[in-house]
Amino acid sequence: MTAMSLPGDNRLGAITGDLIAQGWSWQPGLLPEPLYRALRAEILAVDAEDDLAPAGVGREEAFLLDRSIRRSRIAWMDGTTPAQAEFLAWAGQLREAINRSLMIGLFEFEACFAVYRPGGFYDRHLDSFEGARNRLVSLVVYLNEDWQAEDGGGLVVWAEGADEADAPVAVIAPEGAGAMFMLSETIPHAVQETLATRYAIAAWWRVNPSTEGRVDPLS
Ligand code: OGA
Ligand code: MN
Repeated sequence: MTAMSLPGDNRLGAITGDLIAQGWSWQPGLLPEPLYRALRAEILAVDAEDDLAPAGVGREEAFLLDRSIRRSRIAWMDGTTPAQAEFLAWAGQLREAINRSLMIGLFEFEACFAVYRPGGFYDRHLDSFEGARNRLVSLVVYLNEDWQAEDGGGLVVWAEGADEADAPVAVIAPEGAGAMFMLSETIPHAVQETLATRYAIAAWWRVNPSTEGRVDPLS
């Protein structure tokens, strides 16, 4: 593979420092330009071919298609295209840096393309579902060209443990190549209604169950 175009240690240090200090980190323009272009072309193609399924809420038996909570469409990545393979490799380098500084064992990575049509949104939620030590760190990467303030679709972020009534700490415009990191279990967030089609990759790292001294039940 060609040299990884990850930013230098300062940028990685900022990400992990933010995660430790506040549980989230917003990094404008983190995705290398060629990778951004390739992934944007791919999500546009996936959208044009209508290879997307309505996104649900919860997991497995608790899975719901509740359009009053979440209105978007997704396609899981399988890493079989060059752009997806490069994205997975790029995320692998981020994982190593996060593992080292947070001293956690992030292991599996899962990612999907997510398309929000005008009228799409996602109500306030956590990414790690109740009862499962599941997703530990979330990564959202945006694939929008020239996002305008009037397009809406902001990512609303609350502080760790904040109540619904508390004011958010940030509203982030989904600018192309920007990357958002959040601790999946503790950072409440929401996607405001979007007025333009909004393209993103939503991804999560899971913990390695074998590092916890037990094996996950098979069910
Ligand atoms: C998600 C999510 C945020 C965004 O997919 O779980 O919160 O900005 N996405 O797209
Ligand atoms: Mn989320």
